[in-house]
Amino acid sequence: MILNKPVLFSAVQPSGNLTIGNYIGTMRHWSSMQNNYDCLYCIADLHALTSIKNNIFSLNTLILDTLSFYLACGVDPNKSIIFIQSHVHQHSQLNWILNCFSEFSELLRMTQFKTKIHEKKTSEKTINAALFNYPILMAADILLYQTNFVPVGQDQKQHIELTRNIAQRFNNLYGSIFTLPESLISQYGSKIMSLLEPKKKMSKSDINYKNVIYLLDDIYSIKFKIKNAVTDSEIPSKIYYDIDKKPGISNLLEILSAVTHKDVKILLKELDGVMYSEFKKIVIDYVSKFLNSLQKSYYNYRSNESYLKKIAYDGAIKAQLKSKKTLKNIYDKLGLIRFH
Ligand code: TYM
Repeated sequence: MILNKPVLFSAVQPSGNLTIGNYIGTMRHWSSMQNNYDCLYCIADLHALTSIKNNIFSLNTLILDTLSFYLACGVDPNKSIIFIQSHVHQHSQLNWILNCFSEFSELLRMTQFKTKIHEKKTSEKTINAALFNYPILMAADILLYQTNFVPVGQDQKQHIELTRNIAQRFNNLYGSIFTLPESLISQYGSKIMSLLEPKKKMSKSDINYKNVIYLLDDIYSIKFKIKNAVTDSEIPSKIYYDIDKKPGISNLLEILSAVTHKDVKILLKELDGVMYSEFKKIVIDYVSKFLNSLQKSYYNYRSNESYLKKIAYDGAIKAQLKSKKTLKNIYDKLGLIRFH
């Protein structure tokens, strides 16, 4: 008897250069997850449209950049389905249907939406409706594949809860159509903070590049940014983990833990008595080594566009086959009659 593995789905939106937050929060886990789950890794280009305008060429590039990073992180197209969201039109179709089962008030409660409209209002940018509906497209991504688990960073937890609520609402009306997904969020590294403002999440859309370590940063930028990262003025300086009292140090500890694969508790023992300046040198050293090796692999894939396109093409076909089944079932339940 062959038992099916649980289904795992995750995605990144190619809305900018990927950050070490994206890597630590989710992508670093993807490779090993392939052994225990049936994995689908999606490039959420339709989501990226909520923030990119009039820049088709750059979106094209960012999609292939993101795909190359998936491969560099160890995602294997022979084990997992890697695909681009807009290549599988079932996502947009289910998105509309789920819109009809989502409540305005629950979308209004989404923290990410509230933060984004605050940023847009302060920069006097217009707010598009898709930004509001963004989590419903996420729900469609996840529910199309009967997903059991969704590895994400802290900021996406609320969206996964919303996905469960929408799925549950639908199931209550039409029977067990959707599997209820659960988020997988690590204890450490699920919310990497900005370097200069360690109470704010590190984000690829940050206008201040000094807040962010990008996966493509060179060694000089890494050095400069970590050297200038905000710590605290405790005298004598002491390294310990406390997000509220020592957000800057705790953030650097989480980054160091991810790139060394060492538990924070073990690191704290090793760092006993070390000064902040020395600690930062250690972080710079490990982050640089780690990114250097990731970048080598990234550039190797990125230089082979025909290979990337083939992976995306094959992935879309596999994803379509799976998502069609769910969509057909939903159409039947809803009475969306078809004549073939
Ligand atoms: P995106 O591109 O904003 O983020 C991609 C992933 O990176 C995580 N992340 C972080 N983790 C830790 N610290 C940070 N500073 C940090 N910044 C980002 C996010 O939590 C996320 O896991 N909307 C999703 C993309 C998406 C998706 C999906 C995810 C579209 N459909 C379906 C899961 C399932 C997003 O946050 O993209």
